[in-house]
Amino acid sequence: MTQAHDRLLIIDFGSQVTQLIARRLRELKVYCEIHPYNRVDQAFLRDFAPKAVILSGGPASVYWESAPMPPAGLFDLGVPILGICYGQQVMMHCLGGQVEGGHGTAEFGKAYVSPTELTHPILAGWFPPEDGPLAREQVWMSHGDHVSKLAPGFQVLGTSPNAPFAITADPERHFYAVQFHPEVHHTPKGAKLFENFVRLAGFRGDWTMGAYREEAIRKIREQVGEAKVICGLSGGVDSSVAAVLIHEAIGDQLTCVFVDHGLLRLGEAEQVVSMFRDHYNMRLIHADESDLFLSALEGVSDPEVKRKTIGKLFIDVFQKHAAEVGGATFLAQGTLYPDVIESVSFSGGPSVTIKSHHNVGGLPEKMGLKLVEPLRELFKDEVRALGRELGLPEAFIGRHPFPGPGLAIRCPGEITREKLDILRRADAVYIDQIRRHGLYDEIWQAFAAILPMRTVGVMGDGRTYDYALALRAVTSVDGMTADYYPFSHEFLSETATRIINEVKGINRVFYDCTSKPPGTIELE
Ligand code: XMP
Repeated sequence: MTQAHDRLLIIDFGSQVTQLIARRLRELKVYCEIHPYNRVDQAFLRDFAPKAVILSGGPASVYWESAPMPPAGLFDLGVPILGICYGQQVMMHCLGGQVEGGHGTAEFGKAYVSPTELTHPILAGWFPPEDGPLAREQVWMSHGDHVSKLAPGFQVLGTSPNAPFAITADPERHFYAVQFHPEVHHTPKGAKLFENFVRLAGFRGDWTMGAYREEAIRKIREQVGEAKVICGLSGGVDSSVAAVLIHEAIGDQLTCVFVDHGLLRLGEAEQVVSMFRDHYNMRLIHADESDLFLSALEGVSDPEVKRKTIGKLFIDVFQKHAAEVGGATFLAQGTLYPDVIESVSFSGGPSVTIKSHHNVGGLPEKMGLKLVEPLRELFKDEVRALGRELGLPEAFIGRHPFPGPGLAIRCPGEITREKLDILRRADAVYIDQIRRHGLYDEIWQAFAAILPMRTVGVMGDGRTYDYALALRAVTSVDGMTADYYPFSHEFLSETATRIINEVKGINRVFYDCTSKPPGTIELE
């Protein structure tokens, strides 16, 4: 099979940081995929045809009874291989070296590696030649066992106090193996090591968004042919980029369904409709179902009941409008790469459900539709880059995430139209403040929530008895953990004053200083 771009295979042995290897490689414009060790066999290797392979770290010891091993034939592929931590140990173990465990072999945290060989190209840019063998470079170690005897053909390029074989290479076969983790930020020159490795392996750095766009369009046309496709548009970045890309590939064969559940922010529905229908000229069904959703939510105050009610109605409504398209056989979804990576779990066991996140899972089977998922190979920031490539406006691409159940989960307790209306206006002032102060891009997500209580205030000479508002702003990388944003007191007091002056119905403003955990980002 000929591939449009060079491919690198990452074999995952269960390290917590395997995804970071992929990030570092994508930054070098190298296309790579992560696959768990137990899913990679000889047939897979033949089909995937990697130009190089990286073996990740992992929590196992090569001496465990069922220690994870690389696939048979890997070392005979004739392609460059880089082993990291457990990846190094397993390489040595398979190729005739030795690994030792027990007292004195472990090393966790910061360590310094010194060179025993200064000229090998895998270390280009690592050790300044003028420092000679006294040079040292910070790396991040996290290992129990260590390699005690190199496999034939390997030589040592660098050592650390507890890892005599910190950096090793078999130059003939282009096999490289390191004991530390070059993928983490605490190994400052780790990115350089990956760069050297892919250069030695002959990668061309051909994974660009322009190339991706062209290839994705070709693949969508091939997959879909003359068929019709429907796409649920939420106004979020992922579904928007997927829709624009598919529209570019198949034009009017695509119809987008935008379900307006009445829980959107101020002016949001109008913005989405005008951008996609007027600007991009897409076929768009604007399903204004706010009455349906809001009446179903009347009197509901339990967060899980809210989510389930919205999730179920969403599917019904989507299905009803999708049926209007007639004869659609494909459903487009903005699934991203982190959602499809199958990670190796050594601890096992399902995690506790904190919140039943709302999505359209199960819909394709229910409707008998096949899936088009043109973003399956991308990380979030790559989706943004693709959005830019496709000409989506910057203000749209950089928007904070917005949850499927919308303002319902920012209105703890019972939802009323009055509360939603107040919340929309207050949220708009808050976000305007953040933009005016140039803070929007520093914050991962910010929003207002209307609290289920009224408090007494005094405005002018009169008593007020109005709602209290909570402001939330967090920094985060992936939404899994988060910290509250440290606004200045000036910002907070100016914002509270503006909201109370400009939004009738609010007379008190709180700032939420809870991190996640123990809090969650949304209030419900
Ligand atoms: P939590 O509140 O769980 O939020 O800390 C983490 C991130 O997920 C978003 N979120 C949702 N997104 N459907 C979504 O599409 C949901 O039901 C949902 N609940 C939370 C939240 O906005 C934050 O970005």
